[in-house]
Amino acid sequence: MSTRLLVTGAAGYVGRRVAQLAAGAGYAHMVRTHHRTIPEAQLAGTAYAVDLCDAAQVAACFDAVQPQVVIHAACSNRSEAAIVPSTENIARAAAAAGARLVHISSDTVHDGEHAPYAEDAATDPCNNYGRAKVAAEQAVRSLCPAAVVVRTSLVFGIDPLDHQTRWVVNDANSGKLVRLFTDEWRSPTWVDTLAYALLELGNLNYSGVLNVASPLALRRWDFGMLMFDLLRITPGPNVQRALLRDSGMERARDLTLDVSRAQALLRTPLLTPQQAVEQIRMRS
Ligand SMILES: NC(=O)c1ccc[n+]([C@@H]2O[C@H](COP(=O)([O-])OP(=O)(O)OC[C@H]3O[C@@H](n4cnc5c(N)ncnc54)[C@H](OP(=O)(O)O)[C@@H]3O)[C@@H](O)[C@H]2O)c1
Repeated sequence: MSTRLLVTGAAGYVGRRVAQLAAGAGYAHMVRTHHRTIPEAQLAGTAYAVDLCDAAQVAACFDAVQPQVVIHAACSNRSEAAIVPSTENIARAAAAAGARLVHISSDTVHDGEHAPYAEDAATDPCNNYGRAKVAAEQAVRSLCPAAVVVRTSLVFGIDPLDHQTRWVVNDANSGKLVRLFTDEWRSPTWVDTLAYALLELGNLNYSGVLNVASPLALRRWDFGMLMFDLLRITPGPNVQRALLRDSGMERARDLTLDVSRAQALLRTPLLTPQQAVEQIRMRS
């Protein structure tokens, strides 16, 4: 496949894995963008520095790369203010170039009180990150209607450790209090599953929202225990069960995604966290 692929946010958790797996998924020509992080020399493809919030820089990037497929993995809750402007610029440029856009969104577009959520469920986020992700989805749909908007959940992996597990493990190991909620449900998604699905969607005609996540939801507590077990860590008494409803945090309770449409559409198998952990164990 000689498709020219552009991966944004390749220094980030998801974008880096997409860039690592792209060649194996048949993408021979890849350009990966970074912003503040120095790009990894050993990663496949060509590195391109761009501030995606700057429309002129994005236009220049598209002129230089002439991408046919764009996987927009840049700008997350760690760069919340950039979510909407970067997505507007990418969606506009992709539409003008006639490029296939695969945009990553989040289960946090939902309120957490009406799970499971299918693709056509109403959005009603409960925090600023979720509101930014809804606005970014709307920008994609109006500026680049042929795009696919992939809603996913907690993304995890061990090589390297995902942001949230690293934070939990560091705090657990240093004796800090770690509260894992027993009334908060997510569909934790292995980064490899997500990356392969995004790469596959680059070559499909599907337009609109698609849920790509674990077909089995887990409580935060159970997911935490699964990761501790995988990492051979015995949690101490500082790792405690807690209730989201008592925490005062602005977080949705149950964001379980209905992934039946993606299961029917994709060749990429959507693994449960337990199945993903088995695969990770077999590799190591
Ligand atoms: N991780 C999850 O659990 C999860 C769950 C659901 C949805 N998502 C979505 O998945 C996508 C990827 O998330 P992630 O966790 O991989 O994010 P991440 O690790 O925080 O990486 C995001 C990357 O965006 C880049 N970026 C930020 N501002 C930029 C700008 N103005 N111009 C260009 N690049 C910029 C950064 O590049 P530099 O480092 O080079 O500055 C950063 O490496 C996001 O859309 C996120 O909302 C993630």
